[in-house]
Amino acid sequence: MEKVQAVITGTGRYLPEKILTNHDFEKFLDTSDEWITTRTGIKTRHIADDNQATADLAYYAAENAIKDAGIDKNDIDLIIVSTFTPHMPLPSTACFVQEKLGIAGCGAFDISAACSGFIYGMSIARQFIVGGIYKNILLIGAETMSRFTDYKDRGSCILFGDGAGAIVISAQEQSDKGIIYTKLAADGSGWPLLHIPAGGSHRPASVQTVENREHYIKLKGREIYKFAVQKMQELIEDAMVQNNLSVEDIDMIVPHQVNKRITDSACGHLGFPTEKVFLNISQVGNTSAASIPIALDQAMEEGKVKQGDTILMVAFGAGLTWASAVIKM
Ligand SMILES: CC(C)(COP(=O)(O)OP(=O)(O)OC[C@H]1O[C@@H](n2cnc3c(N)ncnc32)[C@H](O)[C@@H]1OP(=O)(O)O)[C@@H](O)C(=O)NCCC(=O)NCCS
Repeated sequence: MEKVQAVITGTGRYLPEKILTNHDFEKFLDTSDEWITTRTGIKTRHIADDNQATADLAYYAAENAIKDAGIDKNDIDLIIVSTFTPHMPLPSTACFVQEKLGIAGCGAFDISAACSGFIYGMSIARQFIVGGIYKNILLIGAETMSRFTDYKDRGSCILFGDGAGAIVISAQEQSDKGIIYTKLAADGSGWPLLHIPAGGSHRPASVQTVENREHYIKLKGREIYKFAVQKMQELIEDAMVQNNLSVEDIDMIVPHQVNKRITDSACGHLGFPTEKVFLNISQVGNTSAASIPIALDQAMEEGKVKQGDTILMVAFGAGLTWASAVIKM
């Protein structure tokens, strides 16, 4: 066991008040509540107000996590925000969050690994803690997906929602708790399956890119579906083997909320009963990097994840990227 453990000492989330239901989509798209529910498990998703953007959602979630951890915000040594829908292209969303918290001085940066971003961030944070560099790290997954969603594309727009989740990761000596395992992976050749074509240096914004709707998420859903079922299953099996865990040893899987059918298929195949898989996708949809920390905070609040539990996180998304983590809460 490492001398210093990276322990999750606080969780928090923020979901904007406005709710978009499947019936709302029926008013402007050729779709139905029945199709969306049976194909994805999603019923509603939260949408940011016009005056809210990613740093605002991130800040509210962060405040809740800091309160839950019971630390002074001035004791935060580093802020990491996982997002692909930043507040602005420059500077990082983490710097905006730091300003809102009023704690100038500590390091602050963003990472981009799409839906796997939160686990990538946890892996980075864990290294800083077990290496003895920092004592308290604020890690946030935050997305304003609605600003990059094409509400004329029925194959993708029904999936996404806005929100933020945050955790405080703290150094604890000789603890039996902590982030005990993370695995990160990617295959860059899969980028065409899920991307935003314009707005970066490759294809800067122009009248033409806007007219072509190139600033919105382009998704090949059917291909991602197959990849996701396979990767979710592989990641869970691998994490169990690497950590010598059986289905009985794992109290809860907290997966990226991508599609209920994907999770049911992968977890069911491995013998996990539904009560060992935390799902809130019906209420929040897919919030990318925010998905896992929102789910974790809700699971803790509902008493479905408790202190001392062993939980397994799995995620996959654009890149393509995929990642897993095992945590003793
Ligand atoms: C997007 C997704 C829900 C589509 O479900 P699916 O069962 O794969 O559906 P398909 O894409 O095969 O489409 C089936 C039919 O439904 C239609 N359809 C697509 N979206 C629809 C909608 N919102 N309402 C009604 N019909 C729709 C398609 O046009 C297609 O019609 P066709 O057979 O006449 O061509 C599913 O593929 C998925 O969840 N993929 C992964 C999601 C993802 O990538 N998330 C982000 C990365 S983490």
